[in-house]
Amino acid sequence: MRFPKDFLFGAASASYQVEGAWNEDGKGVSNWDLFSKIPGKTFEATNGDVAVDHYHRYKEDVKLMAEMGLESYRFSVSWARIIPDGDGEINPKGIEFYNNLIDECLHYGIVPFVTLYHWDLPQPLEANGGWTNKRTTDAFVKYANVCFKAFGDRVKHWITFNETVIFCGHGYLLGAHPPGILSDPKKYFQATHNVFTAHARAVSDYKKMKQFGEIGITHVFNPAFSIDNNAENEKATYHANQYSTAWYYDPILLGTYPEYVVKQLAEKGWTPEWTAEELDILKVAAPQNDFIGLNYYQPQRVAKNDVQEDSTPKSREQSTGAPGNASFDGVYKTVKMADKVYTKWGWEISAEGFLEGLRMLKVAYGDVKMYITENGIGDEDPIIQDEIVDIPRIKYIEEHLKAVKKGILEGINLKGYYAWSVIDLLSWLNGYKKQYGFIYVDHTNNLARKKKLSFHWYKQMIATRGEEL
Ligand code: BG6
Repeated sequence: MRFPKDFLFGAASASYQVEGAWNEDGKGVSNWDLFSKIPGKTFEATNGDVAVDHYHRYKEDVKLMAEMGLESYRFSVSWARIIPDGDGEINPKGIEFYNNLIDECLHYGIVPFVTLYHWDLPQPLEANGGWTNKRTTDAFVKYANVCFKAFGDRVKHWITFNETVIFCGHGYLLGAHPPGILSDPKKYFQATHNVFTAHARAVSDYKKMKQFGEIGITHVFNPAFSIDNNAENEKATYHANQYSTAWYYDPILLGTYPEYVVKQLAEKGWTPEWTAEELDILKVAAPQNDFIGLNYYQPQRVAKNDVQEDSTPKSREQSTGAPGNASFDGVYKTVKMADKVYTKWGWEISAEGFLEGLRMLKVAYGDVKMYITENGIGDEDPIIQDEIVDIPRIKYIEEHLKAVKKGILEGINLKGYYAWSVIDLLSWLNGYKKQYGFIYVDHTNNLARKKKLSFHWYKQMIATRGEEL
């Protein structure tokens, strides 16, 4: 089978990870501009001050994307470039940059798929409580409206937030992302609720504008599977799926929070301060979502946690997504299994888990339209006689695209696939060493770009619409 005509083959990036130009043309300071400079927070003290200089080299990069045959480019807008202090004046130079980037994509017929928030929050908002403060919600809605007005004539695909579970979980439970707070579940749940209402309000506003595009949110997709059929482990797995999937997907797609979690939060005193009006906003917006974006890298293999002492991650190294940690509430732990395959960074490679998870989503949420908004492998790519021979990347993407194809054949409503990432970029916690791109960036040679083997492979795959997969 060839992938359907309306299925988009793309690749993705995020502002802080590629743009650089952190203090140019009127851009405000973001939380990551500061956080990445706190000793010990990032791998070898890397930061996005320059990143891969996409801000200045976007033309060269988009040209390469066009050469690859990319049908769509998912990128994020830096809020602090558009509204430097987060909630005040608009910076015309910021608008100009994204206008240029969008126009450059359209020039080559590349569909811009725009994420409004991929973790870089204007610092004044962070300093005022970040996502735990409802004023950030108001400011986001304002910012979203500015973007819809400025770019909505040409951008017809919008993602409000990228991976709420990561920036809230790492921000308020693990201390590994800004604002660097450790083990504060009350703030964590409050932040997630504020993000969901911000999303819902932005969706409703977008629909009122009648720009006739699509809008949705992107979530981490890490379905949990029990390591065996022991009843205790299966119970722990149910818990994991409720907290890491249902808590995130239900309020968006069903407009309500999962009862199982709501009840436990009340018992523990972790219920967010939510108003009847906010809960209603979620209900009203749910059917207005056009799609859900899924970022899939690996599943979770789950067992009951029976270690009594606190074994939640505390360091950067423990917060980088490899299994082997207890959940924040101590109920379950993720397990590295002897019969599974892992990347160099300890992430499981499982296209089977991907497909199985997609089936679970279909059962839970029906025929909702889905885009795979990220999927890929972080690796240290081998260079052989000057060529970047990233065969594990080709294999990884091939296997996962096969799973997507099977899913489509089974009737799962999948409409696009975005590899992470289009170009090698800054990994928030792993620096530049962990590569994901089709395009290599030579940090020893003025950030020169070079096509990897996977670039040619993806090009061929798109040209044949995945017929050979
Ligand atoms: C996703 C993020 O969580 O995973 C990306 O949306 C990120 O921004 C990607 O780069 C890979 O994570 P890491 O830690 O390997 O860079």
